[in-house]
Amino acid sequence: RPSLARRQPLPDTLLNVGSHSAEGTRNVVLPGFPQGFRWGVSTASYQIEGAVREDGRGPSIWDTFTHQPGRIKNGDTGDVACDHYHRWPEDVALMADLGIDAYRFSIAWPRVQPTGRGTPNTAGLGFYDRLVDALLEHGIKPLPTLLHWDLPQALQDAGGWMNRDTAYHFADYSAVVTARLGDRVKSWITLNEPIVHLAYGYAFGMHAPGEALMFDAMPVAHHQLLAHGLATAVLRGSGAEEVLIANNCTPVRAASEQPEDAAAAEIYDAFHNRLFLDPILLGTYPDLSAMGLPADPEFVEPGDLEIISTRIDGLGVNYYNPTRIAAADPAATGLPFDFREFEGVPRTAFGWPVIPEGLTELLVGLKERYGDALPPITITENGCSTADEPAAADEDGTVGAVHDAARIEYLESHINALYRAIEAGVDVRGYLTWSLLDNFEWAEGYSQRFGLVRVDFETLRRIPKDSYHWYRAALAAQRKG
Ligand code: NOJ
Repeated sequence: RPSLARRQPLPDTLLNVGSHSAEGTRNVVLPGFPQGFRWGVSTASYQIEGAVREDGRGPSIWDTFTHQPGRIKNGDTGDVACDHYHRWPEDVALMADLGIDAYRFSIAWPRVQPTGRGTPNTAGLGFYDRLVDALLEHGIKPLPTLLHWDLPQALQDAGGWMNRDTAYHFADYSAVVTARLGDRVKSWITLNEPIVHLAYGYAFGMHAPGEALMFDAMPVAHHQLLAHGLATAVLRGSGAEEVLIANNCTPVRAASEQPEDAAAAEIYDAFHNRLFLDPILLGTYPDLSAMGLPADPEFVEPGDLEIISTRIDGLGVNYYNPTRIAAADPAATGLPFDFREFEGVPRTAFGWPVIPEGLTELLVGLKERYGDALPPITITENGCSTADEPAAADEDGTVGAVHDAARIEYLESHINALYRAIEAGVDVRGYLTWSLLDNFEWAEGYSQRFGLVRVDFETLRRIPKDSYHWYRAALAAQRKG
């Protein structure tokens, strides 16, 4: 398979990396990234921690949702997940051995404030306190996300993100967290993928809290944005050096050259990408009138856009694949656009198309659209699920290797695509792959494995996959320059 790097002229600093996995070596080619570029991995609290009733943690919307019959594949829940809450020293050791610069994890709000407001739960905060210390001891920069979808259930009972008050509670929660960790944590991510939480959680109902409000859910977009802006000010006021938001971004391609499809693609782009970028970077909402949304909705109060556009220091981009859009009749489906498959491309175990050049297209497109208003970018998620199985156990009966060649190809091609964007002048400062561990993949339960490290969900044993060894070698080579 010709990699992008092999097709294009190679930079002088080209590094040749031999993977040192158990089974054979495979040479991969990555360019040398700028000095100081941060390499890492990402996870999220509900997906890995388990221990949902321990040390005073309150219930989150995901505890409620996963316990409703029929919501999650195979009836899986995050009750135990990877048991990271107990096994975190082992996970930190894996990260230290991997040689990463930064670790993006999320803080479970219901551990810190079991009902989403009021007196902090010191035992819950203590968990993150110890984690942060351990990371720093190993020279790994902590990059916490304050909320990766696991809202305290008590706030949902009051309307969740449909209720404007949730934004103010989030700001208070940010103050509580930074009061405890802010002496050591200087870089923060406010929210994870507000578009996905809006669409899957509130508009279509596949994720917690399971609402299917369609576009009546739009206050959820605004209140998340307001929460982000309020928290940004809180964090910066308490000494944060870097505040980011992690947005799911996708380059949108029209399914044909027909003007209707091009127009539908623009509408989808405004909904998926611009809805959570224009207000933050430009202080204005995109025109969503084609989706029946008023230009001046009553839930946007005077002064809100100033708060929302509080300067951020970096943009977190979660990239998985581009989206292909055709026109649709809203009278039939309720939507002015329709999704189309990409033909003739490889797919992940999830069925997602593998289109690495979409990452270059996305990043260059963001730069073209926002120009100087675009802050430096960190790729806060990128990765794929694979249907890997461990090979038969070694002779001594210990660990069977996991040959996830498809993940290595995915990472190699996407890191090369990222490099193309840097070459084209986009300021990208880091790459964090999703994910360190196989984990609870939301509505798909444990059926989709995204980890560099396999988790056996029966024994909770961790087994580094070939991709772990590959990433480790790749990072070591970057360091040598
Ligand atoms: C985005 C989400 O932030 C993360 O939680 C999820 O597991 C990955 N994408 C893969 O779907």
